[in-house]
Parts: sequence; structure tokens; C-alpha cells
Amino acid sequence: MTIKAVLRMGAKLLGEVAAPVTEFNSTDLDAIVQDMLDTMQHLDGAGIAAPQIGVSQRIIIFGIDHNPRYPDVEPVPLTVLINPEIEIIDDNQNTLWEGCLSVPGMRGLVARPNKIKYVGFDPQGTKIERVAEDFHARVVLHESDHLDGILYPQRIDDLSQFGFIEELEAAGKLPKKTTEDTDTDAGSES
Ligand code: NI
Repeated sequence: MTIKAVLRMGAKLLGEVAAPVTEFNSTDLDAIVQDMLDTMQHLDGAGIAAPQIGVSQRIIIFGIDHNPRYPDVEPVPLTVLINPEIEIIDDNQNTLWEGCLSVPGMRGLVARPNKIKYVGFDPQGTKIERVAEDFHARVVLHESDHLDGILYPQRIDDLSQFGFIEELEAAGKLPKKTTEDTDTDAGSES
């Protein structure tokens, strides 16, 4: 197991379009996925994308298991999703504060579609197809954006709703958290 350093906003690779995975069921792929899992879990993140650990391939991982930091969020099954394709089912949007492991210490208010369908593959090459709403949709959209070189600050409509966590909390914009916090990826405070 290896906990990798997470690239931060501004790193060249984070702005690039990642390449599709072409070989499934391989030890190389399994090793990348394990590093992503170890890194995400170490940082207590809700999701991570391969480019964040310096691998420019279309692999994302997400999952939330009753995280005390997301008390209002429905659990999302831990999922490794490769070569994701997303279809927006409900054009209506909801807004939520997001954070990102690559933008540590900050949060921004981001509008995203309410409901999506996503299709992709697991590491063995088995097809995954799901309809997702709300936070589940948001984390998939956030992580998939990473594969196209997009970080959430680029999705913020009003940059007055972007800043450092402590300042946003002091300003009463961001709800105060009750548990220890590290930066997470994608979410109601991730
Ligand atoms: Ni992120």
C-alpha cells in the first residue's frame, strides 16, 4: 500500500485530459487503483481521480460510508469507475460547498445537475451503469471533471463564494464542522 502525494491546483498534469484505460484486469491497473484507494482513505476523502496522484488515466474512485463530516449525505457505495461517461438526466441544478484534495484548505459553492446517469467499467472490465442524484451525482461529476483537466474552482459561478475554510466559517457562509477536518474531495464539504 502506498499513500501518494496529491498534486495541487496549478500542477500541469491536473489541467490535462487523461487517457482512457485500454487494458483491464492487469496488475498495473490494480496497483494504480490501490494507490488511489490508500491515498483517498488516508486523507478521509469522498473521492479521488487518478490525475491527482500523477497518473493521467481515466480512473476515479468515490464512496461515502456514513461519514460524520457529511451527516446529511446518503451513503454512496465505494466504487472504482474507469472511463466514465455521464449523461445529465435532470438539468435542474443544486448548489453545495465543494472542496478538493488538490485545493487544500478551501471551499467553493458549486452548482451541478441534480441527476445523472453514469456508465463505466470496474477494474476487471465489467460494465457499471447507474442513475445517481444529489451528492452521489455531485461526487461523480467532480471526479470526472478531473479527467478533463477541470477543478471545481472553474465551476464556481460567483467567486465571492470561494475562500479559505476558516474565513468562510467566520463569515457565516460555511457551516462549522463538528469533527476533525482534513481536505476531502468533492462534496458538501469535500
Ligand atoms: Ni477534486
